[in-house]
Amino acid sequence: MEPLNPDWGNLPFGYYKTDYNIRTYYRDGKWGEFEISSSEYIPLHMAATALHYGQEAFEGLKAYRGKDGKVRLFRWEENAKRMRTSAYGIMMEEVPDEIFFGAVEKAVKMNARFIPPYGTGATLYVRPLLIGSGPQVGVKPADEYMFMVFVTPVGPYFKEGFKPVAIEVVRDMDRAAPLGTGRYKVGGNYAAGMRASERAHQGGFASVLFLDALEKKYIDEAGPANFFGIKDNTYITPKSESILPSITNMSLEQIAKDLGLKVERRKVPFDELDSFEEAGACGTAAIISPIKKVTDHSTGKTVEYGDEPGPVSTKLYNHLRGIQEGTIEDAHGWTTVIEGI
Ligand code: PLP
Ligand code: COI
Repeated sequence: MEPLNPDWGNLPFGYYKTDYNIRTYYRDGKWGEFEISSSEYIPLHMAATALHYGQEAFEGLKAYRGKDGKVRLFRWEENAKRMRTSAYGIMMEEVPDEIFFGAVEKAVKMNARFIPPYGTGATLYVRPLLIGSGPQVGVKPADEYMFMVFVTPVGPYFKEGFKPVAIEVVRDMDRAAPLGTGRYKVGGNYAAGMRASERAHQGGFASVLFLDALEKKYIDEAGPANFFGIKDNTYITPKSESILPSITNMSLEQIAKDLGLKVERRKVPFDELDSFEEAGACGTAAIISPIKKVTDHSTGKTVEYGDEPGPVSTKLYNHLRGIQEGTIEDAHGWTTVIEGI
């Protein structure tokens, strides 16, 4: 087999071909056996509901090579649960946890040579995908579903890594309606946010900050990541029905408590941005991306937090990564070691 020697330290967050992916189909009322494929393509019915009516949900988690050489998944049960919630939300067949984990474990094990070494900052991103594969022309749920898992080695989502980024507020577009699908990890939300996010990139911003769609008064989330602010020894993060419940954010809330901070999950008025000492975006792909400044073109106002990560964000970041890489005790039982690789 070809030796693998990419420049792990400079890997972008992108697609990198690996050896195998795992698939299974829900047909005639039951999930079938795993199929191991080395094809990057999926044969798909042209009338599949995923293509026409957006029956599609995905997940994102990572396998981390630890300092001790072990490979760990971080809170995969939460990803499995969220995928079941997403499936429920858009009327797809739910993937049982044992199928979710079985496919993830197999995909990681069979592509072990692509797991980046400890200390490079790169990780193996795991992408479970659930789609309506059965045909419909009328708007109704498919009878058949395909669940698959592929993996790809990645660097940090924001090329800056753990360096503060500039973001811009978006007021003329919404990612999700208040009672819509924002809390599910479905493709449609990403399509809805793409024009705003590309405009931000073209303007030199790393990401957008979405506000609540109803009043444009409260912070929702920061592109593909949740938002948090720090002030008065308190970790503050938005409570909203239209944001994705981030597993990273949930973990940071606990870590913040463990480190002696207070935690508030509540509506966060946009006007409160001024009062934060630090701000950040968090997610599996983004890890923690400190925010340097938030620009609001409608008022011409920019709130600045500085060019270097703040002390609390740094502590949270180091603690989270330490648990994921096995250098800090996993006091909450969040990691699962994948044996045999
Ligand atoms: N918000 C959105 C819209 C996302 O796509 C993600 C990524 O999954 C997150 C937040 C962060 O969620 P998590 O920490 O579970 O990866
Ligand atoms: C993640 O953090 O896993 C994401 O989903 C971000 C983005 C690639 C969609």
